[in-house]
Amino acid sequence: MKQLVLLMATFLIAGNSYGANLFAGQSKAEAMCSQCHGLKKPSVDSPFPRIFERDFTYLQTALQQYRDKTRKSDIMNAVTGSLSDDDIDNIAAYYDNIHPSK
Ligand code: HEC
Repeated sequence: MKQLVLLMATFLIAGNSYGANLFAGQSKAEAMCSQCHGLKKPSVDSPFPRIFERDFTYLQTALQQYRDKTRKSDIMNAVTGSLSDDDIDNIAAYYDNIHPSK
């Protein structure tokens, strides 16, 4: 029961991510992001930003900006070029829900 309450709280706090599909997000993340950013816990000396520490809104905004090329990064502009709004929401929700320290 306690876990259910915690789970619901997570969704409430995540706000915008309500309705996003965590499983779809996970499979996209596995296929497209994990080789650089890790899936749960990137190696300590990973040269890439630790995106699992970011919240939903931050990730959503960053991915939209990379996709629209208002934020420049050769790598990330290429990676996000084919993502739909739903993909972005799902991936952002997935990484937002990872809590590696627990
Ligand atoms: C080939 C390696 C690579 C892949 C694959 C990749 N990234 Fe990145 N990512 C980077 C690099 C390098 C940066 C830093 C870019 C910069 O300087 O803005 C970055 C930056 C980011 C940032 C900004 C982090 C911050 O702290 O502001 C986010 C969010 C992000 N990536 C998410 C993703 C997601 C989600 C995917 C999968 C759809 C993905 N990345 C796939 C290499 C990668």
